[in-house]
Amino acid sequence: VSFLQKNDDLKKYSIIDTRQFKDPEVLDKVLNLASEMEELSDLSDNWIRNNELHDSEKDRLVELREKLYLSDYPRKPIMVSLFVQPSTRTSFSFTSAMKRIGGDVFGSENAKDFSSFAKGESIEDAAEVIGGYGDVIVMRHPGDENHPGNKVAVNFANSCPIPVINAGAGTDQHPTQSLLDVYTIRKEKSRLNDLNVAFIGDLKNGRTVRSLIYLLAQHSNNKIDLVSTDDYTLKLDMKEWLREKSPKTGIKFYEYDIDNVVDVLRNADVVYMTRLQKEYETGRTDAANNSAYILTPKHVSEMNKDSIIMHPLPRVDEIDPAVDDDPRSKYFEQAKNGLYTRMALLNMVLTEKHGITDWEYDSEKAANSYK
Ligand code: NCD
Repeated sequence: VSFLQKNDDLKKYSIIDTRQFKDPEVLDKVLNLASEMEELSDLSDNWIRNNELHDSEKDRLVELREKLYLSDYPRKPIMVSLFVQPSTRTSFSFTSAMKRIGGDVFGSENAKDFSSFAKGESIEDAAEVIGGYGDVIVMRHPGDENHPGNKVAVNFANSCPIPVINAGAGTDQHPTQSLLDVYTIRKEKSRLNDLNVAFIGDLKNGRTVRSLIYLLAQHSNNKIDLVSTDDYTLKLDMKEWLREKSPKTGIKFYEYDIDNVVDVLRNADVVYMTRLQKEYETGRTDAANNSAYILTPKHVSEMNKDSIIMHPLPRVDEIDPAVDDDPRSKYFEQAKNGLYTRMALLNMVLTEKHGITDWEYDSEKAANSYK
């Protein structure tokens, strides 16, 4: 049955890095699947809350359920949720997504304090053992000085007998966030190319910024405006990668000081705000450890009518709550889109039913690039 996974090498279904989705056609299929998840959720919500579905909508709901639920899985598939770094939102989003497609979940949101990690177990041993208990593992890890986030994620995935989804790896990558970000951009702007995207805030430590830039750079003629204080600029490796990529897709990036933010806002199709990631700047008490820029209604009034404002959340003080009512603010929708995107990703990882291929994780290549 095509529904079942090939049982040869489950590692290849892991999602660790957004560069796995470098082919725009493959990404398009993933986002289309997420769109169907949204339709399924909307139809179900309507039925539950209003009991108002036309016959054609009921037929569509049955059709989508048939296609998207994991009900013909040999057993209720199990997602193990392993958060070695605090998270409520992302872990709830994954849990809700898995349950909405008919799966089961168990795990720990405080894996750091309670698990064998605290006793000094290696990441490889943990992966081997926990991998025996479920069908997919969702893992978040802060990394440490010797093991940056993505190295931990790669080591874990490469020692794990089942697929691993990276739910945030130190300051390196947060692929599911970026996939939901591009889902949001595609939905709101109807395209992923020819965009002017402004990133504002902590571009040094923000893993969502890195992951999303990787995706934007794979589409043609995008322009990225980077706005931060000197202390929080995008890391060099990323800028080098962008320079290499530029002749291929036309990606361009420009750096601005906070003082020039209004010019940037005027030209942006998408404004992507981020909070300062204070947890990676321990011991710092200077002014540079406060948000240098706060988006207010006055700033927003400079923006184009059809531009959008995004934020991976949680927000601290970098967006004035008075901006929330502006129709261009999309951060709460963005969080909701996370649910649909994660429903799609879990589905893809657990089945081959949707025929979305060529996004596979290459464990050997990853091991070599994160030595
Ligand atoms: C982001 C993260 O964890 O990197 N948040 C999230 O996934 N909900 C962004 C952040 O914490 O600032």
